Amino acid sequence: MCGIIGIIGKGNENVVGKIIHGLEKLEYRGYDSAGIAVVCDGKLSRLRAAGKLRNLIAKIESNKLSGTVGIGHTRWATHGKATENNAHPMMTKDVALVHNGIIENYRELKFELQKDGYVFSTETDTEVVAVFLQREIDKGNSPREAFKNALSAIEGSYAFAAIFSMLPETIMVAKNRSPLVVGFGSNMCIASDASAISAECKEVVYLNDGDYAEITENNASFFDKNFQPVMRKRFTVSEDSIDSGKGEYAHFMLKEIMEQPSAIRKTILHNRINADILNGVSRILILACGTSYHAGLVARYWFEKFLRIPTNVEIASEYRYRSPIIEDNTLVFAITQSGETIDTLEALEYVRKHSNAKVAAIANVKNSAISRAADMIFYTEAGVEVGVASTKAFTAQLVVLAAVAFCKSEFFLQELQNVPTACEEALRLFENIKPVAERIKEARSAIYLGRDLLYPIALEGALKLKEISYIHAEGFAAGEMKHGPIALIDDNVPVICLCPHNELFEKTASNIAVALARGKNVIVFTDAEGSKLLPDEVTKIILPNICSEFVPILYSVPLQLLAYYTALIRGEDVDKPRNLAKSVTVE
Ligand code: AGP
Repeated sequence: MCGIIGIIGKGNENVVGKIIHGLEKLEYRGYDSAGIAVVCDGKLSRLRAAGKLRNLIAKIESNKLSGTVGIGHTRWATHGKATENNAHPMMTKDVALVHNGIIENYRELKFELQKDGYVFSTETDTEVVAVFLQREIDKGNSPREAFKNALSAIEGSYAFAAIFSMLPETIMVAKNRSPLVVGFGSNMCIASDASAISAECKEVVYLNDGDYAEITENNASFFDKNFQPVMRKRFTVSEDSIDSGKGEYAHFMLKEIMEQPSAIRKTILHNRINADILNGVSRILILACGTSYHAGLVARYWFEKFLRIPTNVEIASEYRYRSPIIEDNTLVFAITQSGETIDTLEALEYVRKHSNAKVAAIANVKNSAISRAADMIFYTEAGVEVGVASTKAFTAQLVVLAAVAFCKSEFFLQELQNVPTACEEALRLFENIKPVAERIKEARSAIYLGRDLLYPIALEGALKLKEISYIHAEGFAAGEMKHGPIALIDDNVPVICLCPHNELFEKTASNIAVALARGKNVIVFTDAEGSKLLPDEVTKIILPNICSEFVPILYSVPLQLLAYYTALIRGEDVDKPRNLAKSVTVE
């Protein structure tokens, strides 16, 4: 969701350039608008712009904004349209404030402040906090008291950073259920994540929920939820959390797709799972959202077939509302690339409250919130994933889950080692995939079909296409098509089938025949043997042969390429698709 940053300059240093640099790193969290506020000589100034960060940068260039202490924001709109007027920072006479999260009781607070004569000018929930702080200052309270009173009045999730005209050397921050780090280095900084301030800070403190902190030029003081001073542990910023740019690629997404063989190799190397984690486990529960949920769906096939442990996979955002029962001896896996998806964290919270189940997290971002919420953490070694559409983190999640499923089988672990090379071969097929993208680029809707282990990959392929090309796409279990979705098929609805030559080949081939009888645009991802047996009327993309358990990893790759090239041909912003954000920290 939104990204926030704050930097304190050394001496008279103007921090605007550094804040913009940080916002560039945070833009993956939202790009509906951006803004910056600085304090200089006891005076607050701000600039804001609707749309992507480049609009703000253009404004800053023509307005010469300068300040020694500043805060910045990149917004993913929740309350209020994506306009300049609703862009953060919110500013009153003496306070400028940026926020990530949702203030749930903002209507009551707004009503109360309006009764006191305060006037609101935006549609946001955040403005109540800035106005609340202003009212406290007007009452004669210090900024610290103002913050303390505001935090006890507010309900919801937040990471705040505020600057005050009367305290021009300080940034005040608070956190509850939205991520926030305080960085120590050449500058003192705060940010939604460590990567945004990695140029300035080599060490960070991850604030706990309820924490409040005051940051000055050389120091940071931390307070717990009772406003008692506390010490918080410093962590070294991991090199892995620093993104190295797009390199030779036009988009981060393409770079990340291409990085998969090495990401998979590294993830295999770092995830030799000890079979002891399964001791006494009689059930597995997987919690995740979006693409990570699809990884969980694949794992269910592996866990049930090879570990013979009953496995449930749950959409984390739904899980806790139906009061689920967690049996004794359940092992829970929470899967999340970002490690900060609030739906997944809340589902985990439910597990904690209602059971003694052991929780293992699978995350890509080191030291993210999930690492503190779980009993064990397995990292996917995919490196920073910037593209909003998850690619290499997904296949790396599958690798970690495979390492768990096959932790007792040297044979399969050995076969897993062949996956990166097969993915390299699949990546070389990009020239074959471009014409397929040309064929589906005008479609109003697309259908993805897969059976067994490839059913979740059909779901994932469809998600990739809709996320970045805005073509409506749905994945179905191939056998389920005849129970309804078949009604959608005509010549203008491409049917994309995943059909390796395995024991279910004939069944999926029949589904393909049925689709072909109703529409002319049938595209099949298969292998050499399958290709020989499928009708000539279908378009075939031939993938390498691989151990049949690992086809979900391999078949993900060309579907990512297909989504990428389709979005590219349609002229969409591949790395920053509309309405989305990489990290979803609101419910
Ligand atoms: C993936 O392409 C999506 N952008 C999205 O579905 C994502 O997987 C989901 O929001 C979960 O994120 P997480 O893995 O960081 O928890």
